[in-house]
Amino acid sequence: EKGGWPSFMKKEVSEQPEAVAKTILGRLHDGSVVIPELEAFGDTALQGIRRITVVACGTAAYAGLVAKYAIEKWARVPVEIELSHEFRYREPVLDDTTLVISISQSGETMDTLMAVKYARANGAKAISICNTQGSTIPRESDAVIYTHAGPEVAVASTKAFVAQITALYLFGLHLARVRGTLSAAELAVEAEQLQAVPDKIAEVLEQAEKVEQLARWMADTRSVLFLGRHVGFPIALEGALKLKELAYIHAEGFAAGELKHGPIALIEPGQPVFVVVPSPRGSAELHSKVVSNIQEIRARGARVIAIAEVGDAAVLPFADEVLRIPLAAPLYEPLLAVVPLQIFAMELATAKGLDVDQPRNLAKSVTVE
Ligand code: M6R
Repeated sequence: EKGGWPSFMKKEVSEQPEAVAKTILGRLHDGSVVIPELEAFGDTALQGIRRITVVACGTAAYAGLVAKYAIEKWARVPVEIELSHEFRYREPVLDDTTLVISISQSGETMDTLMAVKYARANGAKAISICNTQGSTIPRESDAVIYTHAGPEVAVASTKAFVAQITALYLFGLHLARVRGTLSAAELAVEAEQLQAVPDKIAEVLEQAEKVEQLARWMADTRSVLFLGRHVGFPIALEGALKLKELAYIHAEGFAAGELKHGPIALIEPGQPVFVVVPSPRGSAELHSKVVSNIQEIRARGARVIAIAEVGDAAVLPFADEVLRIPLAAPLYEPLLAVVPLQIFAMELATAKGLDVDQPRNLAKSVTVE
């Protein structure tokens, strides 16, 4: 039921604080993470893991890309992200020290299901991150960590995405505790940061009007680029995917560092470019590199829309628009920065008179290979 909202998507975007909070519920205790669903899996098995391969498609794969930064940092295990359909058909190297984590909102995506079956048949252990109780992928896995985003009806994934990142972060902290790579004090700091996310997403949602207005002004746009670095890179990819699928606009996301390796040639006067700006408090070096990128594209006439934390004044001289997100530690910024991009795509599609819940040619769950 839409419950008075104009679309399921708008309702689901607004439910993101709850989606994160409910996914955390019962898994954080006194500053430490315990995922009861992993008990059956066993700490010894988690201590023996040498490598994690994430298999997923679309937005779920971008959630995996965000989490790679956190899991590698916290648990010191290499993490690779594979699109399920690419993984399955290239004879990947697998053994019992490889943990395969599948991510799927529906739990029915055929490509991901086949990747999980393949991984297990070839000796790997499989954990799934899933939003749908009783669906097929969890049944085919050794363990499941459910996201508690509630039913997601709109074809474009929004609240499931933030819940997937949350579940993966909880997993990363659980793994770091079991492997002893983070101290109790460090775990408590991360737990506190994660628990602060729902209120911060709510703050971003309160500023929706500015993004909506921008989307309406840009309703005739034919191409939009998205740049990000570090955890902002997968958010750039996600922003582009949302715009493609909802508004049928050509959109591409790039790692900001790639700009001079090719994509900068695309910049011509008037080209809109969203830039996800990392916090200067998190890394002054990354921040200044992204600000330089903004200067480079601005000098070539790009119309820059920066997503930057509150108080970051360095972007002001070069950005045409600045969308603000609350202060957060760098690893938690993606959960905030994605929200204006979701709203932008949704509102631009609405301004074009399109059906945001059911975009053309797409299905909510892709049950064929
Ligand atoms: O149900 P799943 O999470 O396995 O679906 C994966 C993708 O098909 C899905 O995220 C798709 O990319 C969305 N339409 C993106 O908004």
